[in-house]
Order: sequence, then structure tokens, then C-alpha cells
Amino acid sequence: MCGIIGIIGNEPVAPRLLESLRRLEYRGYDSAGIAVQTAKGTERRRAEGKIRNLETAIEDEPLAGQVGIGHTRWATHGAPSVRNAHPHHFGQVTVVHNGIIENFAELKAGLMAQGEVYDSDTDTEVIAHLLNAELATGAPLRDAFKATLDRLHGAYALAILIDGEDRTILGARRGSPLVVGWGGDEMYLGSDALAVGPFTNRVSYLEEGDWVVLGQNSAEIHDAAGNLVNRPAVTVSASAALVEKGSYRHFMEKEVHEQPESTQRTLTAYLDPVTGGVRADIKAGVDFSTVSRLQIIACGTAYYAGSIARYAFEKLAGLPVDVEVASEFRYRSPAMMPGVLAVAVSQSGETADTLAALRWCQSQGLKTAAVVNVHTSTMAREADLLWPTHAGPEIGVASTKAFTAQLSALLSLAVTAAAQRGRINAAEEGRLAQVLLGAPGLIAEALGMDGDIVRITNDLSKARDVIYLGRGETYPLALEGALKLKEISYIHAEGYAAGELKHGPIALIDENTPVVVIAPDDELFEKTASNVQEVAARGGRVIMITNAPQKVPTLSGDAAKSLKVIQAPDCDPFIAALVYSVPIQLLAYHTAVHKGTDVDQPRNLAKSVTVE
Ligand code: AGP
Repeated sequence: MCGIIGIIGNEPVAPRLLESLRRLEYRGYDSAGIAVQTAKGTERRRAEGKIRNLETAIEDEPLAGQVGIGHTRWATHGAPSVRNAHPHHFGQVTVVHNGIIENFAELKAGLMAQGEVYDSDTDTEVIAHLLNAELATGAPLRDAFKATLDRLHGAYALAILIDGEDRTILGARRGSPLVVGWGGDEMYLGSDALAVGPFTNRVSYLEEGDWVVLGQNSAEIHDAAGNLVNRPAVTVSASAALVEKGSYRHFMEKEVHEQPESTQRTLTAYLDPVTGGVRADIKAGVDFSTVSRLQIIACGTAYYAGSIARYAFEKLAGLPVDVEVASEFRYRSPAMMPGVLAVAVSQSGETADTLAALRWCQSQGLKTAAVVNVHTSTMAREADLLWPTHAGPEIGVASTKAFTAQLSALLSLAVTAAAQRGRINAAEEGRLAQVLLGAPGLIAEALGMDGDIVRITNDLSKARDVIYLGRGETYPLALEGALKLKEISYIHAEGYAAGELKHGPIALIDENTPVVVIAPDDELFEKTASNVQEVAARGGRVIMITNAPQKVPTLSGDAAKSLKVIQAPDCDPFIAALVYSVPIQLLAYHTAVHKGTDVDQPRNLAKSVTVE
């Protein structure tokens, strides 16, 4: 996902734009650039690759000015390159953009037919041409800007400089987030609170369709119809301390180790450690006894969190649950029944597919809820019910503490549903709440598996393919484990239901294929143990993660030599997926470190995918 910053300041702006772009690196990018209003007009510096390449370009040709915009690009239209890097410029207009202009081809053809020449392959450049053409008619700035926006289809967050409009930045949002930062006698525009965090903690969140004319100490905000509107300024918590690595090598490592605290914060937002039950305000916000079915929609890791939660909602509360990837859900015209509660699960609260699915459910008259980590995100603001997670800013592209925070919230809600549907009494509610509240301590204990895991990942890092197996709640965890390994180590991995092995995947098993078996000591353990035997009998190299090492089947020959058992803490099966997330994450992390990949910003990935 691209990142945007704009500053109308009172000191050299280039270093400040760079500082903000470094805060935006977590979103994933492949090129970056800035534009500054200087004595010579609007000047740009752009570079492919990491921010340090842009720093070099600016050192080589410094930019003197106090007003500017900056951008980190995650390529959609046009390969990663300097010519496709933002900002884009034409005529009087210089623009940075996050999103996709879906009708850019027809707009571009129309303008090229009038003889205009493009110097990039991007959709974004068409915005500069369009706005420049509107300004060339002599239309006032605001009219020209609104007329341009009205012609754009698709998603955008924009920051724009206009030659001749000194100390002014235009901004607009539709489908991609944008905030106004208030700095006393300075003003800012950013993709999120983290972007403007170095300069201010007071922000106004632009709403869908809003556009803004930013001045030295003013923000003239209009809604999509052009009416002046007020978007109140709020104080946000994205302080510098929250986005630093500290003593860790990577944000991902830090965030894995933050999980005792982040799950604790989330669990105590839903469960009362004193009364030992679900908090009254959580119960007051929803009545699961009136819910006929849950429809969970999410992407990636958030989808696996929803898939794990389904077991608890159905087993505990007797509530039917469907879980679906958002990109598939709304395009299959799902049949919705009355009483369905649609639940979006999302760390960022901005994922385009999930947001579109949530909006589709609302269009069908369903009640909607959002389990989100960014409490001011679009999903948080648009869903009927906000079920926040409290993981804190998650900077590593690979989701870890947000995942366990999602599980914490969802499992607490499953207990809520069971209580409200009369499936459990107060004593059982209290027992389950206490089991959940004990999870952070067990997660802390699981972090102690780090050493055991580091010792096996050198071997794992040499694998070409890895298979993850689980049963019950740990089947979606096996899928998540495979995703974690894939996305940060670039090793192909697949997750399977252990019982599915015999129906095909076992053909993949040989001495070159490590098989990670997630086996908490529960009612399914013996069946999973049989799968271990099947894998071993075919020369497969088993890595077994279990809290019952004494029950691990006796193997023979090479299988016995290659078997690795990683001992997990004892835990109630109800929270096994929460606790076993830690070794799964550490396995992927240390394997990626062995491979030397960019753990926090893996190739091709973005932290939040705000394009479909
Ligand atoms: C997970 O490690 C990935 N970063 C990705 O699958 C992510 O979970 C997915 O893109 C959904 O993002 P969201 O939670 O912000 O909606």
C-alpha cells in the first residue's frame, strides 16, 4: 500500500518528508519520491528501491523549501522505476496518490488525443493532466479540483501541489485513508496518524469523498458534494515510542514478543478479571440470542483468525458460522438470511476487499461488526458494531500480535455468545474467561521456545517445500503457519488438515519435505500422531510442536533421527491456537532470518492492501 505525506511548514521540508516516509515504510513499497515548492517552482526528487536511495538523490541535489509532498509507492500500474515513482507532474500540477484510478485508460486516451504526452505508465499521472486542463480553463482552484475529482472512478488518497499556489496543498480521499494533521502554525496531510506522528498527534480523519484545501494554519474541508464540513480534530496515540524497534532486530520480532501484553490488553477489554466473566458493556453492545448465523469476512491472516474462531462459536454457542475470504465473498452473490451478523476481521481496517464485502453486507440490510486494530479506520467507522483489538501499531508486514489479538477478541465474543444463547451458565462463563485471561502468561512461556526453534530453522531454511498439518482449531493455524513462512522466507509452504494427508498431499512426502505438525494434547492428538507415523514411514522429516512430548509416537530408522519435537506449554484446548501461534511465528521468523530476507518488508507485499 502506498504512503502519502504533505507538509506546510516553517523549516526545511525535505528532511521532514523523509522522516515521515521512513514511518510509512511498513506499508510496503518499491520506490519513493518528494516534491518541494522552491524558488525555482516545484522540484522533484525520486528513486527506485529503499528510502536511502531517495536520501542519496536529495543529498546530490538538495531541495530548499518549506512546503512539500512525499510518497512511498507500491506498484500497481507500471513497473517499479524512477519514471513511475511519485510525485507525478504535468503543467502546473504535482501529485502523489494511493489507490487505483479504474477509468484512467479512457481518461488518458482522451487527453493524449489532444496531444498531451505522458512520461509514466501510471494511472496517477492522469490526475495531473486532468487537473491541469481544468486550471487551464481559468476555473478557480476549488472548482477545478472538484471537477477533476468528479471524473475519477476508483480509489484514491491524494496530495497535490499547484505551481503558483504557494503554501497550499490539495488533498482528497475516496477508498484510501487520509488524515489532516494540525500543528499550530504548520499543517500536514498523511495516509495515517503514523505518517504525521513526528510532527503532531492532533489529526482530523477525512471521510469518504472528502477533499481539502490545506493552508498555512487552516484546513478547508469539503464533502463529496462540495459543502464545507467540519471533521473534528482528535488526539491520537501513535507516539514515536510505539513505532521503534527498541533492542529487537526487526519489528516482527518485537511484535511477536509483545504478545503477552497485547493479548492481555485485548482480553481485558472484553473480560473482567475481577468478576471473571464477559464485561457488561460488551454484552450490552450485542445480543447473540437474536443472531441466526455469523458471516465472517476477512483476508489473509485475519481470515485464519476468523476460521479458528468458528470452532469456538459453533462448539460453545451453537451458532452457525461461515468464514470466507472477502475477495470471493461478494462476487458469488451469497444468499443471506435474516438475522445474519456480518463480521469483518482486519488489522488495518482498510483492506479493500474486506471493506467492500462489509459494505455489500450493509447494502443487503445485514447488521455488521468489525474486529479491527486501527480504531479510527474506515471499517471501524462504518460498521454498526466496533469490536476493537488492542495490539498497538503493527509495523511488520507479517501479522503476528494483531492475529493473536483478533483471536483474543473473537474467543471472548464466542463466550459472550454462548452465555447469551443460554448454552453455558455463569460458572462456565467464568471458567472460560479465566482460561482466556491465562493465555498471556502461557504466550509468555511459549516465547521461551525461541532457542529450540532457532536450532532447527537452519535446516528448515534449506527446504524447497514445507507442509504444515493441524486438526480442529489448529487446522486454520496450520494454514496461518504456512502463510507466515511463505510471506517472509519465500519458501513454498502449504497447510493441510492432517486428516486430509491421505487424500493426495502424502504424495509430496519425501526426505526433502519437512512436515510441521501442530499437535496440542487434545481429543484429536492420537489421530494426529497416526499422521506422524504415516509421514515418517515415507521418509518425511517431522517437526512436531506439542505439549505432550511423552506421547510422541516411537519412530524408527532415519525418521527417528530426523524427528524434532518442540515442547509447547500445557494449555486448555480452548486456547491452544492462541498459545501455539507463538512457535508458528517464531519458526517463520527465524527461518527468514537464516535466509536473510527483508523480514519486516517482504518483497511484493504491503501491510494493508487498499486496492482490490
Ligand atoms: C498477514 O501476515 C499478511 N500481512 C496479510 O495476509 C494480511 O493479514 C491481510 O492482508 C489482511 O490485512 P488486514 O488484517 O489489515 O485486513
